Amino acid sequence: MTTTSRDALTRLWPLFGLRLATPRLIMRPVCDDDLAELVDLAATGIHDPAAMPFLMPWTDEPREKLIENTLRHFWRSRAASVPEDWSVHFAVRSKGALMGTQEISGRDFAVTRTVDTGSWLGLAHQGQGFGTEMRCAVVNFAFDHLKATRAESAAFSDNPKSQAVSRKVGYVPNGDRVVQRRPGEAAVDERLLLTPETFRKPTWSVQVAGLDACRGSFGL
Ligand SMILES: CC(C)(COP(=O)(O)OP(=O)(O)OC[C@H]1O[C@@H](n2cnc3c(N)ncnc32)[C@H](O)[C@@H]1OP(=O)(O)O)[C@@H](O)C(=O)NCCC(=O)NCCS
Repeated sequence: MTTTSRDALTRLWPLFGLRLATPRLIMRPVCDDDLAELVDLAATGIHDPAAMPFLMPWTDEPREKLIENTLRHFWRSRAASVPEDWSVHFAVRSKGALMGTQEISGRDFAVTRTVDTGSWLGLAHQGQGFGTEMRCAVVNFAFDHLKATRAESAAFSDNPKSQAVSRKVGYVPNGDRVVQRRPGEAAVDERLLLTPETFRKPTWSVQVAGLDACRGSFGL
């Protein structure tokens, strides 16, 4: 998608104009122009194949199926996002290179003031603080710009990287549940809660552009 066509679509779908910036990252809602790179990144690997960090084990699929499912997932999620039950997947880039995605979602947000988050990075981009930076960006955005009062997340008990990110950002335990993550395989899904009071805000603030035009997309 050229800048011109993104601009043209932004006039019709204002979320495409949203932009979050941190010291090292630019985060914009995934558009079709990001998809080939995103799919390639996912197909290159997100985690050790023996592990499964996702509730829906989508990365277990063979390459062809993973490509098709990943495309469907981004198209479906964008099309299904409505003000009373929204979800935004940000394409996360550093110096122009795609690192991964950061999702933020909210249901009946104007009333609940609660957001949920999920994310992944290509394996080559993990362990350099990007996961922490992009999570800080969306919760900073949620608390200061959307006026959220709660940010929830979850990670399996055997996902130390995601848990470390949550801990660093200031989340506190919020219960757990046992789920089937792969056929016949149980896992403990640990819920986490962040509030503006527990948020360990970094020294920087997220820079936000394009929000006024898409407040309605967040049910505001
Ligand atoms: C989870 C994820 C987004 C985190 O991003 P990241 O860039 O790797 O995270 P960061 O570099 O910001 O922080 C990772 C932390 O985990 C810690 N860590 C890494 N491996 C660890 C281990 N085996 N045990 C304990 N801590 C560990 C690191 O030391 C670091 O903490 P520190 O900065 O205090 O040293 C990324 O690893 C990822 O995409 N994982 C696969 C998909 C996934 O798990 N998604 C989340 C599903 S809930």
